[in-house]
Amino acid sequence: MKQRTPGRIFIPIIMVSIIAIVMMVTPIGFDRSTGFWGFFSNTWNHFVETFSNGMAIGIILIAFIMLLIVNAINKVVESQKFKKLSAEQQEQYVVMSKQNYFKRLISSGRERQSDEEEQAIILDHGFDGIKELDNALPQWWLAMFYMGIVFMVVYVLAYSFTDFAHPEVEYEEFNTKEQARVDKWILENDITIEGAKNKYLDAQAIEEGKKTFEQICATCHTANGGGGIGPNLTDDYWVNKTQDSLFYNIYDIVYNGSPNNAQMRAFGKRGELTGLAIEKVASYVYHMNQEEADVTENEGGAAPQGDLISEWAKSGATASASTEPSTDEGATTKNTETSPKDSAQ
Ligand code: HEC
Repeated sequence: MKQRTPGRIFIPIIMVSIIAIVMMVTPIGFDRSTGFWGFFSNTWNHFVETFSNGMAIGIILIAFIMLLIVNAINKVVESQKFKKLSAEQQEQYVVMSKQNYFKRLISSGRERQSDEEEQAIILDHGFDGIKELDNALPQWWLAMFYMGIVFMVVYVLAYSFTDFAHPEVEYEEFNTKEQARVDKWILENDITIEGAKNKYLDAQAIEEGKKTFEQICATCHTANGGGGIGPNLTDDYWVNKTQDSLFYNIYDIVYNGSPNNAQMRAFGKRGELTGLAIEKVASYVYHMNQEEADVTENEGGAAPQGDLISEWAKSGATASASTEPSTDEGATTKNTETSPKDSAQ
């Protein structure tokens, strides 16, 4: 008589498969992480969620109880069979059952039937003296085969009809998350003229504004702001005056473009620069104009264009094209920042 696979071996193996199957059909609510380690954390989270789902726990419990019942029935059948064995066979069986299961499993691969057993399973055909034996498939092999069939059916159903590993659902989830991120970014970046602050005292903002200026504005205004195609931004002469204060004037021109000359395009309205980027570049232009020396014609700057606007001049009322840079305080006291006009949007 063959030895059975003991319950302490087959019950855990089957339980693991059942838990995996139940996990596949249990819906999950957490945000999946990506990447290699994401796979492990997702699996763990999925496991935790499965075990907090009443229905899933119920199915797993029932499966476990059924396995215990099957195991008990097996034992009864086994003892019935045992009683029918001869005394010698019973002794053999007892010795065998005391061996370690895994050792027995491995050695069983090398065992051959007794001549008597072989005679019973020999098939009624042969060729050149080669005979075929009708060996039964090993129980563990059959168990895996049947589990595989069940697993396959559940997997296909779960994959096709539930959210388990559903590419569209995953795409939607990911997309919603990314869209929220983009919306947040837009909200933080797309400030309008009302929300803009002159950040000419903020070194970081000036640094970033300078970068934008060199990348985008320098082609027309030159890197030092001295002007070329566009007017000199370092002097006290301005073509456009749409706002009462210098900073908001710069912001307005960069956001909405020049009302007179299409070459100075609406960087904000056209979506080329966000409100936040314009705030920084306008702060930088303000800083160049108020805190640094003018780039004169002798130094390659463009000749003054537009009107002298004395209240925006760095050296006070009389703008004598002074090259002396004013201090930070000078700039703030001389140009009180009035809020932007309503007309500028
Ligand atoms: C394609 C060339 C071009 C580019 C690029 C350009 N500008 Fe201008 N800009 C001009 C011209 C031309 C004017 C003059 C507009 C007018 O006559 O009304 C001007 C005017 C201005 C004014 C108003 C000057 C005044 O006297 O009224 C400011 C401020 C300004 N630009 C800032 C910028 C900033 C900041 C950038 C980069 C984001 C930039 N410009 C990019 C061509 C350009």
